[in-house]
Amino acid sequence: MTHSVPVAKKRADYQPADFEIEHVKLAFYLDETRTKVRAISTISRRVKHANTLVLDGVDLTLLSLNIDGEPYHDYLQTDAGLQINIDADNFELCIDTQINPEQNSSLEGLYKSAGTYCTQCEAEGFRKITYFLDRPDNLATYDVYIEAEQAAFPYLLSNGNPTGQGELENGKHWVSWSDPYKKPSYLFALVAGDFDLLEDSFSTLSGREVKLQLFVDKGNAAKGEHALASLKKAMAWDEQVYGLEYDLDIYMVVAVDFFNMGAMENKGLNVFNSKFVLADDLSATDEDYFNIESVIAHEYFHNWTGNRVTCRDWFQLSLKEGLTVFRDQQFSSDMASAAINRINNVKVIREHQFAEDASPMSHPIRPDEVMEMNNFYTVTVYNKGAEVISMLHKMLGQTGFRAGMDLYFERHDGQAVTCDDFVNAMADANQKNLNLFKRWYAQSGTPEVFADYLFDEQNQILTLSVKQVNAPTADQSYKQALSIPLDIEVLDSTGTPLPLFSGQQTSAVLTLEQQQQSWSFHCANQPAALCLLRDFSAPVKLHLSQTDEQLKLIMLNASDAFSRFDAWHQLLNRYINQTLESEHPQQGLPQKALCSIKNVLAEVLNDDKIDLALKAEMLCVPSFETMAQLNSQIDVEALLAIKQGLEHFLATELVESWFYHYQNNQTAAYEYNQQQVAKRRMHNVCLNYLLIADAAKYAEQAKQQYLSADNMSDTLGVLKACQDNHVALFDELMADFEQRWQHDALVMDKWFALQAGAFRSDILSRIELLKEHSGFSLRNPNRTRALIGTFAFYNTQAMHHIDGSGYKWLTEQLILLDKINPQVAARIVTPMLQFKRYDAIRQPLIKHQLMRLANQPDLSTDLYEKVSKALN
Ligand code: ARG
Ligand code: ZN
Repeated sequence: MTHSVPVAKKRADYQPADFEIEHVKLAFYLDETRTKVRAISTISRRVKHANTLVLDGVDLTLLSLNIDGEPYHDYLQTDAGLQINIDADNFELCIDTQINPEQNSSLEGLYKSAGTYCTQCEAEGFRKITYFLDRPDNLATYDVYIEAEQAAFPYLLSNGNPTGQGELENGKHWVSWSDPYKKPSYLFALVAGDFDLLEDSFSTLSGREVKLQLFVDKGNAAKGEHALASLKKAMAWDEQVYGLEYDLDIYMVVAVDFFNMGAMENKGLNVFNSKFVLADDLSATDEDYFNIESVIAHEYFHNWTGNRVTCRDWFQLSLKEGLTVFRDQQFSSDMASAAINRINNVKVIREHQFAEDASPMSHPIRPDEVMEMNNFYTVTVYNKGAEVISMLHKMLGQTGFRAGMDLYFERHDGQAVTCDDFVNAMADANQKNLNLFKRWYAQSGTPEVFADYLFDEQNQILTLSVKQVNAPTADQSYKQALSIPLDIEVLDSTGTPLPLFSGQQTSAVLTLEQQQQSWSFHCANQPAALCLLRDFSAPVKLHLSQTDEQLKLIMLNASDAFSRFDAWHQLLNRYINQTLESEHPQQGLPQKALCSIKNVLAEVLNDDKIDLALKAEMLCVPSFETMAQLNSQIDVEALLAIKQGLEHFLATELVESWFYHYQNNQTAAYEYNQQQVAKRRMHNVCLNYLLIADAAKYAEQAKQQYLSADNMSDTLGVLKACQDNHVALFDELMADFEQRWQHDALVMDKWFALQAGAFRSDILSRIELLKEHSGFSLRNPNRTRALIGTFAFYNTQAMHHIDGSGYKWLTEQLILLDKINPQVAARIVTPMLQFKRYDAIRQPLIKHQLMRLANQPDLSTDLYEKVSKALN
């Protein structure tokens, strides 16, 4: 963690290792502060005459080192590990180390989460367990022996299949495991603890029985049912859609409270943030149910896309993550509302990924330079990575895509490969040249696409002209044209899709491959409006000027849900842009704009044909983060005024409709199903508008909903609706909520987040008090993200307060947090990195705080990489 000046590693410098560890026997003697680890590695030389074996190792106490059974001394210990001088083709290396799990607050390597020992080795955590070739291209088989106190740690788990167990003296016991599949060190896992165990089984396509085990904290068994059911759905789906079967006899999932990310796909032994496992009706929202299903699926899908075929080096992370996110999104679309799922995926891209592209951390989905790998588990690598896969899927179709996947596994099962290997398999299976497409892996930034069209009525020819602009980003000044699929549909004046290309088809995917291109094709009738980016067919910003009437036609008629939702944002964006360019942007949207917007939304509200889930979505004003993507500069006051003014206008003008639809969308006894999810969403969207319109009048209604709710979505719906609209009721209900839920840490995270997101003038002193709350700890990432992360990312008014107090407070927290958990600190610093996008008053305030961070002695590499890039 302490560094002079960390240096970046480059993708271009990749070199295979001189030696290879083929097999390793690990023995763990677990102890809070003095865990002993013995690693016996079977090593072979791969490069002739190589005579230095360089092993990674961090925060380890070396106890002994033997080669082929003899003590060995010809080695050098460095900051980064060991350099062993050895001239042999095959040998056995035995290393004993000692580590301190109790003190490990970085949550990488072996650590304690409450009473449980667990590991997190991706990306480079295994080197905190023992000296090793801690790189994803070293594939080895593992035998693991674990010894611990029996009473406190009845379950001792690792990868693969159990091979033995026994009792020892002094109340200890041991268990051994063997994983027959070769794997990189980042997929190693160990768990020791006491749990409630849920068991089930799954019989695979070829008739093998797989034992499923889900381990949760004692007393939480009932909260694991949804996760277990989700796992079975994911296993069946991967067989049906990709022909992929599970390969071991046992699949285990463990839920822990202290976890840096969502979950981890360790072979046969997933470790999960308990947030993505535990749910019941009263404590989990519809969104929680959805997320659990999706994260459980994500980690399961990694068994093929990640574990059986893994990454050659960490620059290739998107090989497994982009692909696996794409697969979990496909799965979620099959399980839940495909329309809402797609819209939410696009929101992540627009709100967070586009922001990352515009920030000093901008990088391609396959980065070229990395200082701290943990900083590259990003929305770009994951979510834009998934969009890149989705474009391939669009261009090849499900059949062609599946053929590519089949070939990928045929060629690379058991290997550590590159993104190019993946695209090559797609290309070869479809006899297509995808060389141009590969630029998406190399180029960062958000392409802007400008489109225009003409209709030749006499000949019924539609001519579409499109141009792409790829502006320089922080990391790259030179950009090339990308291959951009545009999924189009043309509507006539009644909103009916027109046949194109003189056939019956009414939509088509055109691929823009040059800077500028045009297409002329038959169109059966005069076009009234165009959908050009159906289903968000590429991660770009599209500019196509259409009138309010045209956008309204799309909103009410397009066959694709995303296009409808997007037309609403386009319509609004035009008004927002006009206002931002006007003389007094801080006065918000002018009356005339407000009225036209209201009229459009009133039509949506009263349209009975629109799917309810989509309707509820379209009735929401876009988030601040979405609006901030409209321009390179962020005018905080203007955007807040626009957003709040619009919400207030819609709330008051349509108040009767909100009330009517509020009453009409009550749900029966809670069930997690799509009809109910949509109704609840609509119900709570209406409640929010009602409180904005007249908080005093609808307070009683809100309180009734809070008191009678049989599920967390309706409970939170009330709290969110009063958060900024009825402070007294908010405080009253929050106090009650705390009483009811103080025993449940995951629910208390919702409470902390609601507190941190509330705008009030004394917010900073309130958060300071909350840090002293008995349920809060900076050592727990979920708590930290709930309180400090919510403030930094979502409390725009307080975080970006013009007096700079938000920046100063956040920086103080980051300084503390960086000592405890640099990974989490480096995530929460994100909102300050884009300081150049703010006004002349805020810029120096943020910059000053970044400089303060930069000057901290012993700043982590994680924060150093980000802060130094921002200040550059
Ligand atoms: N591979 C995990 C996933 O499923 C993420 C683990 C990342 N961990 C980390 N410390 N960066 O997405
Ligand atoms: Zn993943």
